[in-house]
Amino acid sequence: MKSPCITFLFFLLANLCSAQNNNTDFLQCLTSQFQASNSTQNVIYTPQNSSYSSIFLALARNPHFISTSKERPLAIITPNNESEIQATIHCAKIYDILIRVRSGGHDYEGLSYISQTPFVIVDMVNLRSISIDTKDNTAWIQTGAILGELYYTIAKTSTTLAFTAGACPTVGVGGHFSGGGYSMISRKHGLAIDNIIDAIVINANGEILDRNSMGDDHFWAIRGGGGTSFGIVVAFKVKLVTVPETVIVFNVARTLEQNATQLVHKWQYISDKIEENLLIRVFLRSVISESSNRTIQASFTALFIGGGVGDLLQIMEKNFPELGLVERDCIEMSWIESTLFFADFPNGSPINILLERPGGSHNNFKGKSDYVREPIPEHGLEGIWKYLNEEYENRAELQFSPYGGKLSTISESETPFPHRSGNIFMIHYVVGWGTDAQRHLNWIRSLYSYMTPFVSKSPRTAYLNYRDLDIGRNNNEGNTNYKQASVWGFKCFKNNFNRLVRVKTKVDPSNFFRNEQSIPVDVSYYIRKNTGILNNESFIV
Ligand code: FDA
Repeated sequence: MKSPCITFLFFLLANLCSAQNNNTDFLQCLTSQFQASNSTQNVIYTPQNSSYSSIFLALARNPHFISTSKERPLAIITPNNESEIQATIHCAKIYDILIRVRSGGHDYEGLSYISQTPFVIVDMVNLRSISIDTKDNTAWIQTGAILGELYYTIAKTSTTLAFTAGACPTVGVGGHFSGGGYSMISRKHGLAIDNIIDAIVINANGEILDRNSMGDDHFWAIRGGGGTSFGIVVAFKVKLVTVPETVIVFNVARTLEQNATQLVHKWQYISDKIEENLLIRVFLRSVISESSNRTIQASFTALFIGGGVGDLLQIMEKNFPELGLVERDCIEMSWIESTLFFADFPNGSPINILLERPGGSHNNFKGKSDYVREPIPEHGLEGIWKYLNEEYENRAELQFSPYGGKLSTISESETPFPHRSGNIFMIHYVVGWGTDAQRHLNWIRSLYSYMTPFVSKSPRTAYLNYRDLDIGRNNNEGNTNYKQASVWGFKCFKNNFNRLVRVKTKVDPSNFFRNEQSIPVDVSYYIRKNTGILNNESFIV
């Protein structure tokens, strides 16, 4: 008789072998599918390809997860057309391989390129065309495009068209647009999702859908609910927005010795109420002052799209005279130049720098988010300064991004993104490190805990695009249930979470598209449907 240990060993080996066979069969399936459809070369990269590593790392924005995760993708697929995505879905379904979809690779927790179970990356890098229609000021944008490519293409077409999306040009359209998309013109024009008017999605059955064929619920879900739970988004159609030929920017920095605490305190009372053409963000970090003391620097960074320097100075004098903004602080430029300014490119950089994609060397970081509905008192801000002073220069930063304006006029349920009226600003916490990850992770978690009394409650809300698995997560395989997922789901979506679960249950009942923060399927709906016990259309949520 075999000992239990030996039996267990056989069991393990058998499973290992069958997993390996599965993986090999999957790759064979892919190859034959691609050959059958005469697919172009260089679409499948396996570890045997010399460029596998460089393709994997180029868009793996947070190396922390590369070092902490053992699994590497079985293959990276860089489709050139929709049929190659369909073929990948087809084989992944047969062999039960997870798909991770990557556009710009900026996911804070690496969910677009890391998994704890066998997986394949569908990297949208080759699907990045952008076509602009100046007759109706719309654009079709494939999701592999980065924001810089979008801004560049718009600027080449018109000096008064723009789009409302993030400040970092290397962020990908796929993840950014499907999770929200906050910009320096969001108080005037809303988020990226507020301007999406159509989309092309490939669902778990491999069907190619547009707005009409996917239906209202599905189209609603991919505009803020995170595209990855509902299929692979190939392209978004957006309404472009108009801006003046000349806009004004400023960046005014004040230290504690220059009343930074009082200024940040006052900013909370005006930043969401001031006219919507003006958006003033605050960036906070610990710096060494001119007199060699450690201090806090608050940088008030703004974009004004509502007139000339005189108009801006008048608005500031009326609402925020304490900042002491003067004419020489105000810089006139085009909107496209302002995108370079906010991305910290050196003055005078050519606009084609926006087309540059990130290389393979990135920094480890952890981010978190919060929403503030009541101004933080000065003593609360002083507690934040203590935390910031514990981190070295340039390691940690807090960003305060104002809401109000158009953001507040849209109802909480219009899109899955619920952070609308009543929010003064969003906090983005970020810390980076070279070594000693745990110390920095402890630091940011402790700061987040310190902030509890000052931020939104029941639920403590969070921005999906600043992905943070600390607020709750599904299992590693992405399988979950309503209860487990609602821990993080209500924080990101409030009551919209329930509708997202209903949509997921309809469009992807087998939970094919899943990750550590994907929307769960309402399993009990299917049990009831199959047993006929209850009304077929009733969901638990
Ligand atoms: P990535 O490719 O990693 O995808 C993110 C998620 O979306 C993953 O779950 C992925 O599977 C899924 N996904 C990607 N493409 C998909 C597709 N085609 N179909 C279905 N699912 C898809 N945000 C903001 O609002 N304003 C800002 O100014 C900034 N600035 C900023 C700067 C920097 C340096 C970083 C790292 C991040 C930001 N962000 C931001 C946050 C950013 O919006 C967020 O990280 C996006 O999800 C990034 O989208 P990517 O396509 O680059 O990421």
